[in-house]
This record gives sequence, structure tokens and C-alpha cells, in this order.
Amino acid sequence: MKLTLSVIKADIGGYVGHSSMHPELLETAREHMGRAKASGLLIDYHVTRVGDDVQLIMTHTLGEEDEKIHKLSWDTFLACTEVAKKLKLYGAGQDLLTDTFSGNVKGMGPGVAEILIDERKSEPVLIFMADKTAAGAWNMPLYKMFCDPFNTAGLVIAENMHDGFKFEVHDVIGHKKVFFNTPEEIYDMLVFIGAPARYCVKGVYTKDGDMAASSSTQRLSLMAGRYVGKDDPVLIVRSQGTFPAVGEVLEPFAFPAIVEGWMRGSHHGPLMPVSFAQCNPSRFDGPPRVICAGFQLADGKLVGPVDMFDDPSFDPARQQANVVGEVLRRHGPFEPHRLPLDEMEYTTMPQVMRKLEGRFQDL
Ligand code: F6R
Ligand code: MG
Ligand code: MG
Repeated sequence: MKLTLSVIKADIGGYVGHSSMHPELLETAREHMGRAKASGLLIDYHVTRVGDDVQLIMTHTLGEEDEKIHKLSWDTFLACTEVAKKLKLYGAGQDLLTDTFSGNVKGMGPGVAEILIDERKSEPVLIFMADKTAAGAWNMPLYKMFCDPFNTAGLVIAENMHDGFKFEVHDVIGHKKVFFNTPEEIYDMLVFIGAPARYCVKGVYTKDGDMAASSSTQRLSLMAGRYVGKDDPVLIVRSQGTFPAVGEVLEPFAFPAIVEGWMRGSHHGPLMPVSFAQCNPSRFDGPPRVICAGFQLADGKLVGPVDMFDDPSFDPARQQANVVGEVLRRHGPFEPHRLPLDEMEYTTMPQVMRKLEGRFQDL
């Protein structure tokens, strides 16, 4: 039996502002998921949140991009939006870009990561969820997990990983995809994935075609044609055996890489790994942060979660993130804290340009 693990997420209203989520929204989502489980549509589910984003973690046998599963998620987000409206939460329904469901939530606002699994004798999976950042935030961590022997010892010393992996990279602006074999083609691949605003790692496979990782790569601003919030992406990674060990999957986050997002989706900031209890981005609406929920799958049942970053060994990464965040904050409205002009999600440039028209003289 092929099992599908679907993680579908949306920001459907923040509490307070864009910092966190009201418990009533989570309860509403759990009620919907509970009914779907009772009806047999889902094998199991877990509802959680990071910052102002709710994640529906679901197991079923219907495969990727299944209309029933996507409709269930859409209806759940709609029901949560009603609660958000009642409580006048901030940006109620912000990620639901259309009124009518059209068979698949992709392109409608929510973020989606799905993975097909032949459940092994023991199946550990790690689900990463980030707030106040964009889809490309997973590029560097995925590279380190699956390509970097300084991160993943197994690439060198474990026979079942020594052959490397295959990466699926999406050009989210040109709407194209390309596959790279690693380690053979890492230099070619890095030309692209080093530019995470345009090229996002969508998935990683073993050389035999087994899915190892799957991420959400939807860029909300490109879908909507205007700023409606950051992507706040999710990532599923399988672990142990032919895949990196749990500690090798988590290791990239011991370094708080600088990602785009933070205040008004228009700044660079460090990606801070935090426990579930610490996932309320508040300082300057951030800094961007990531949580990780670990599960063991048992015939599709989600056994867990374990709060993987609730570990003092990630304290130095959090401290570093605060130091780096402080250095960047001191740049105020200057780059490289503020994003380059063409990547900012908010801009007053057209209005200011119009106002100053005629005052610009040839050099
Ligand atoms: C970033 C984010 C926040 C908002 C900011 C302004 O992803 O969600 O930083 O951009 O709080 O929000 P609005 O424009 O809704 O007042
Ligand atoms: Mg929000
Ligand atoms: Mg968010």
C-alpha cells in the first residue's frame, strides 16, 4: 500500500497581528480533520501551527494532489476563516486567494508538500514548518542534508547513501523544472539553488526514485500578483536507513542561515530554530523561524509529534540568530537588511518616483 503524507498550510488570520494563532482556529481545524478521519477519508491527522500559519498534517492512501484531500483542506481553511472573522483576527482568510475551489489548492494560496511512501519497517519523518520567510529557505538546509559530507556523515561512511541523491529544482518564475544528480552535478545545481528567490528545491529522491523529501514551493506573491503575505513554507523529510539520520536532517539548522522575509516580507534575517512554545515571531515581526515536528509512522498513524528543536544544543543557533538579527536590524532601511528593490514585497517606489518626476536631471 502506498501511503501519502500531505502537509497543507495557510495563514487564515493572525493573533495578535501576524504573530500567532488563536486556539479556536486550531480547534475548528481539529474538528474538521476529526470528522474526515471518522469518515475514513484520512488514516490520521495532526493539526499544528507556526506563528500565524496553520498546518494540516494528514495521512491517506489517495496519492498526491488528490481532489478530496485538497477540498477537505480548503473547506477546513474556510471554516477557520469564519472563526477568524468572528474574532476579527488580523488578515482573516489572507491566504485564500479565490472564492471557489477548483480541484486543487495549489495556486489558490495555501502551501502544499506531499510525499508518497512505501512505509518501511520503521518510518521516521521530520516535518519542518517556517514562518516569516519564503519557499527558497529550504534550499541550503536540503543541500547540506543530502549533499554535504561536513553535515551528513552517512554520505561518506554509510554504504546505502554513498551513491548520492537526485534533486528536483523548480524555476518558480519561468515555470520550469530540472533534475540534478548529486554529488556529480552539485556545481551546476548550486548555480541555481544559490538563488533561492527564483530556484527552489521541490523534492529529493534516492537514485532508485524513492522520495526522500518534499517541500512547498508555491510563491504566494507570484500567485496573487501582489503582496498577500510570505509563503511561510513547509518541508517533509524521511529519515534513517537509506536517508540521512535524524541528527543529520536537523544539523543544517544549527546554523541560522540568512533568509528573506521578516518584517513586511521585505527584509533579510536569520532563520531561528525554535521549540513549539517559542514559535511566536514578535521582534520586528520576526525574526523568521522554523519548528520541526518528528513522527514515526505506523500503518499510516502519526505517532508523535516530538518537538525536535526543544533541545539546548540548538541554543547557540538561537543566540547567533539574535546576534545576526541585531547586526541586520542596525541597518534599518538599508540593504542588505532591506531586500533589493525588485524583491521587496512592499514598496512605495512608484508613488515616490511619480512625486519626484521632473526633478531627476541627466548626469
Ligand atoms: C510578514 C508579515 C508582517 C506584515 C506586517 C504588516 O510576512 O506578515 O510583517 O507584513 O505586519 O502587515 P499589514 O500590511 O497587514 O499591516
Ligand atoms: Mg500573516
Ligand atoms: Mg505567516
